[in-house]
Amino acid sequence: MRKSQPTQLQAIAKDAVAWFAKYRRDLPWRNTRDPYRIWISECMLQQTQVATVIPYYERFLIRFPDIQSLAAANLDEVYQLWAGLGYYRRARQLHAAARSVVESGQSPFPLDRDAIAQLPGIGRYTANAVASFAYDQRCGIVEANTQRLYARLLRCKTPLSASSSQKQLWDFAEAIAIAWPLATGQLNQALMEIGSQVCKPKSPSCDQCPLQKHCLAYQHSETETIPAPKLKKQITELQEVGLLVHDSKGRWLLRRRLNSERWAGLWDFPRYDCTDIQNEGLALDRAADAFLKLYSKRPAIAQECVSVKHSVTRYRILLRCYLAQIDGKLTIGNTQGPSQEQLGWYTSEELDQLALSSSARKVADWLKKHQP
Ligand code: ADE
Repeated sequence: MRKSQPTQLQAIAKDAVAWFAKYRRDLPWRNTRDPYRIWISECMLQQTQVATVIPYYERFLIRFPDIQSLAAANLDEVYQLWAGLGYYRRARQLHAAARSVVESGQSPFPLDRDAIAQLPGIGRYTANAVASFAYDQRCGIVEANTQRLYARLLRCKTPLSASSSQKQLWDFAEAIAIAWPLATGQLNQALMEIGSQVCKPKSPSCDQCPLQKHCLAYQHSETETIPAPKLKKQITELQEVGLLVHDSKGRWLLRRRLNSERWAGLWDFPRYDCTDIQNEGLALDRAADAFLKLYSKRPAIAQECVSVKHSVTRYRILLRCYLAQIDGKLTIGNTQGPSQEQLGWYTSEELDQLALSSSARKVADWLKKHQP
């Protein structure tokens, strides 16, 4: 596809913005130019649906109305307000970024996209979205909805993940932001809205699309085949044994995951990788040995009670959980493992308030319901 000319880009932008003025959804983060609020919304909207995000966004901003209040908060409280949105790494990075802004004297918020892009956990899309929505800085955006829209407009046939496709899509996004002389924030939101509401992945509503006359995929009857289907990921299966260790008061033992682990900082039941062991008895021995090494007590493992499947990136994890008990006291906060990790005993009700990994959340919900 040839490079689009500025006049062509302006025509696309004009049609997009006119459509947006008429059909835009009224979303809470569209009624503000505060970069902090916009940033929070963008973090929450990564991988989470608009309807789910709205109540979280409102609650979060009541508790943390500005970046100073977020920076001053305890991470656990941030996690609590995030519980249910999943992907806790986003909450951790958000908190770290707030601290970095305040500590470097950039509050209330960094002043342009380059400064925003320096913050931990902020990629090109988020930096450009915040800078354009809040400051009308002339920068383009590419995320799931816009990339599908641009790919069809440009008739980009290579898979979207290919670096050549990404370059083409980002070039288009930046070029249209520069070509359009009016508010970039409105333009980018318009393109995103058309991507999500009209240019849907399956059966796009081309008859209602304000950009139909500009769309090369439409002209070539290729809207069902562009974008090209995603390349299949190589999946690795993992098996873990989870130990649901309980005490005489009906409380469960949880550990806080270390920074070096996936789901760092979240609470979890002790669990051990046993992928290479087929035999159940040997897998349980492995788990008991690992527990003993860390906490100096060998657990007595009883029956299997719940198993949970969980997918993360290219891994599919099967977590098989067993009830277990230990003799005597476990000295919390003074474990002998190299990690000095945090441990705690919690009732099923208390687990509701704890920032758990999503697979641990499934186990905790099961425990609450079945009270084994
Ligand atoms: N998805 C990501 N950012 C969004 C936004 N600002 N509005 C609606 N959906 C979005």
